[in-house]
Amino acid sequence: MTSTIQTGEQDQQSIDVDSRHSENYKHEYVKSFAERWDDLIDWEARSKSEGSFFIDVLRQRGAKKVLDVATGTGFHSVRLLEAGFEVVSADGAAEMLAKAFDNGRKRGHILRVVQADWRWLNRDVHGEYDAIICLGNSFTHLFEERDRRKTLAEFYAMLRHDGVLILDQRNYDALLDGKYGNKRKYYYCGESVTAEPERIDEGLARFRYTFPGGDYFHLNMCPIRKDYVRRLMREVGFQRIETYGDFQETFREDEPDFYIHVAEKEYRMDSPEKTEE
Ligand SMILES: C[S@@+](CC[C@H](N)C(=O)[O-])C[C@H]1O[C@@H](n2cnc3c(N)ncnc32)[C@H](O)[C@@H]1O
Repeated sequence: MTSTIQTGEQDQQSIDVDSRHSENYKHEYVKSFAERWDDLIDWEARSKSEGSFFIDVLRQRGAKKVLDVATGTGFHSVRLLEAGFEVVSADGAAEMLAKAFDNGRKRGHILRVVQADWRWLNRDVHGEYDAIICLGNSFTHLFEERDRRKTLAEFYAMLRHDGVLILDQRNYDALLDGKYGNKRKYYYCGESVTAEPERIDEGLARFRYTFPGGDYFHLNMCPIRKDYVRRLMREVGFQRIETYGDFQETFREDEPDFYIHVAEKEYRMDSPEKTEE
């Protein structure tokens, strides 16, 4: 008989069903979850589904020096290193960074890892970057608006004058409006793992990740809407924000699983800020 157990550490730290705090991530990414994260994302399948999207966006903007602020287990840091970018890999969760470092080493790289919380990023990460990436729905770990604003301000400040922020999020609009399909698997590509929303309301999206054998983990995320995120980005100073749906420029609002925002800092005299939202 297979029993379904929530893997101990996360349980003990009690990410309760209604926890809505930016601090949650510190208890959610426990060692046992970090160990299994790669079964969830499946590096090979994820590489295929993203193709060269992020590499192209970065190259088109002449970026060389990239800060990966949500390194997780290192998938994008490693891909970008292999594509020739200079990468610094930050994350707030020590267990995820440790796994990223191991993953890098297995592929012949020594990742430059820094443990840092986005809200006070420049306390621990120094320098100026051509690009910052915050991928894998990570930004939606922040529950308080104050934290989202502070985080975006930290990102903005660490970019060069013409730098770019690439930040993605689940299509929570579809989820909140009852149009969630998740037929495609652009991000969470592992065939044997299920990622299901267990609880959804305007302030909480609680996901359950179930692994072969029945072990499961939870992530409590904040279901922020696409236009709200675009607005916050503009309000902290980003000048031009392009939003892609599952790596495409044109999409129907309820169709994509993920949105990817590409936010440019450069102030161009010839392109006034759009204020459509
Ligand atoms: C959903 S995982 C995504 C990891 C990776 N980018 C990927 O796509 O596989 C989110 C990551 O964001 C990190 N994170 C969440 N909140 C954070 C914060 N306030 N400061 C720094 N890192 C944070 C977590 O530790 C975790 O590694």
